[in-house]
Amino acid sequence: MREKKKKNLIDIKDLSVKEIDDLIKVANDIIEHKEKYSHKCDGKILATLFFEPSTRTRLSFESAMLRLGGKVLGFSDSASSSTTKGETLADTVCVVSGYADIIVMRHPKEGAPVVASKRSLVPIINAGDGGHNHPTQTLTDLLTISREKGRLDNLTIGLCGDLKFGRTIHSLITAMSRYKNIKFILISPDELKLPEYVITEVLEKNHIEYIETNSMEEYMNELDVLYMTRVQKERFLNEAEYVRLKDYYILDKSKLETAKEDLCILHPLPRVNEISTEIDDDKRAKYFEQAYNGVYIRMALILKLLEVL
Ligand code: CP
Repeated sequence: MREKKKKNLIDIKDLSVKEIDDLIKVANDIIEHKEKYSHKCDGKILATLFFEPSTRTRLSFESAMLRLGGKVLGFSDSASSSTTKGETLADTVCVVSGYADIIVMRHPKEGAPVVASKRSLVPIINAGDGGHNHPTQTLTDLLTISREKGRLDNLTIGLCGDLKFGRTIHSLITAMSRYKNIKFILISPDELKLPEYVITEVLEKNHIEYIETNSMEEYMNELDVLYMTRVQKERFLNEAEYVRLKDYYILDKSKLETAKEDLCILHPLPRVNEISTEIDDDKRAKYFEQAYNGVYIRMALILKLLEVL
């Protein structure tokens, strides 16, 4: 008997624009009618294999599966797994795919989820691989932008901070580049500019307008969305370099003086210093809503990959 092909989410490009739009529709329906979905995954198990720390991604996936009526298992620290005895990722995934119906994994190595998907019997979801991709954060971001702005096209989006190592940035640019009339303002120090491969293979290939600048203030008045990011300490080889760059941008009230009244301020979180807490009460600050939205879009994704809908 031929096995049915399983669907994974390794890269945001694994989903068509229509599939993303459908996931957003389902997530919005879940937000409105939570009870309708509370037994959709009865009897199903989600495994979380986290080889790197996480608060939002792991717990929102667990919350998502529990809210769908399913169960969860897994580890949040590879030190408590048999990885410490020398087990390969491929063997770990091969075994866990016999214990669960769907696997969510985060790994420090770029490309690790692809290796996992080849050995898994069940769908693999990439919850972040090194400085490469973070597709489910992008789904969360898209749901939030569409709820806050009412559209995913005709937007000027400022991306600020660590554009080099910030995997959420790379996935978000890839996703948004498929919508009409998107312009990016890329705000970073020279040392943390967007990687050349994202510029050539995504922005230039798709004829997307973009500006690179060191200044947070210069284009503030044009922005519909401002997406702040943390400088990714864990990706630096040189501690002194991290310390020099970590507070390069701090969003405070003075920086928002020229900003639009309906600017949408996002951050994938965790935040360190890059958004002053004085901004939290500003009606334009949407980063905590963004974190809450993560549960609902992940519920929609689980339903899709398990073919429950
Ligand atoms: N945004 C995000 O990936 O957060 P965690 O690292 O806490 O999962």
